[in-house]
Amino acid sequence: MNTAELKKELVDLVTTAGDMTALENVRVTALGKKGRITDLMKNLGSMSSDERKTAGAELNVLKDEIAALIEKQASQLKRQEMDGRLANEQIDVTLSTRPERKGSIHPISQTMDELVSIFADMGFSVAEGPDIEDDFHNFTALNFPLGHPAREMHDTFYMPHDERETGEAQKKVLRTHTSTVQIRHMMNNKPPIKMICFGRCYRSDWDMTHTPVFHQMEALYIDKNVNMGHLKGCLSDFVRAFFGIDDLPVRFRPSFFPFTEPSAEVDIGYWKENGELKLGRAPKLENQKWLEILGSGMVHPNVLKNCGLDPEIYQGFAFGMGLERATMLKYGIPDLRSFFESDTRWLTHYAFDPLNRPNRATK
Ligand code: PHE
Repeated sequence: MNTAELKKELVDLVTTAGDMTALENVRVTALGKKGRITDLMKNLGSMSSDERKTAGAELNVLKDEIAALIEKQASQLKRQEMDGRLANEQIDVTLSTRPERKGSIHPISQTMDELVSIFADMGFSVAEGPDIEDDFHNFTALNFPLGHPAREMHDTFYMPHDERETGEAQKKVLRTHTSTVQIRHMMNNKPPIKMICFGRCYRSDWDMTHTPVFHQMEALYIDKNVNMGHLKGCLSDFVRAFFGIDDLPVRFRPSFFPFTEPSAEVDIGYWKENGELKLGRAPKLENQKWLEILGSGMVHPNVLKNCGLDPEIYQGFAFGMGLERATMLKYGIPDLRSFFESDTRWLTHYAFDPLNRPNRATK
């Protein structure tokens, strides 16, 4: 077989190799140690020096041509393979994220979102106030005079005293309740006022049912001719919507707060079945029990005056609720302290889906 014939045969083999494995086989057949070209090279030794010169040169050219052709075929096959993958392995950007990588919503955030959705329906907007407060907003403006024993009800964290602050009213505290935001809001807004606010509160307490940091929700409604009936109606509707129990028994019990008069603690009904706590109306009246869930009352005239509002014209109601306790009751979470331990196993169990947030349509 002469070189031209061999070349034709090898070119055929290379250009018809359909994938990288076939092409590799062709390479071995042509250029391998026992390949066709190598074989012919071995014959060169038995030739005369003239023959060897021409035959050797021809074979070297053939070897280079075939090697170059194999390389070209290889890059073509690789490009084909890539084109095929690009066509088949498409990424579907509309697929949802993988569940194991999904973040989750802490139960307290869930409760806040649920409360926003309930109160938004009733026309309330959301206000904010600082965690580090002064004595005026936390106590004095709320009708806790200096030295008043009611101040002792709150185990207050006082901030280190700043020499530049002269008066008692400027003394900095970590707010003990969100009622501070009532004052800030009334001083900066004209009635009618309908606001809720959420925030961290701080008291020097630590046991099964108290942590030094906890969350409250505050609500404030100020307008002309607001009365206790509005307070009762709003609060009953709200707790029934929040716990999702239409006939949840709600009880208003006389109480005392310096900043409301009259004041009422609100209880919701529960009963026990096989030792398990069930919210709602007990099947038998004598089994009905009560749980306190929030404090409320008609805003005290002194508080209105402290905020520049005339109590002869404006009245209103306010209430404050601990979010941890409400969340524990609604979702059956047994231990208050677990809210603050950041245990991811607890979160995996109790946290909520970030892609399914409460809203006014799904309530
Ligand atoms: N601030 C009160 C507390 O922390 C709750 C409250 C708010 C009571 C508003 C009445 C009105 O206990």
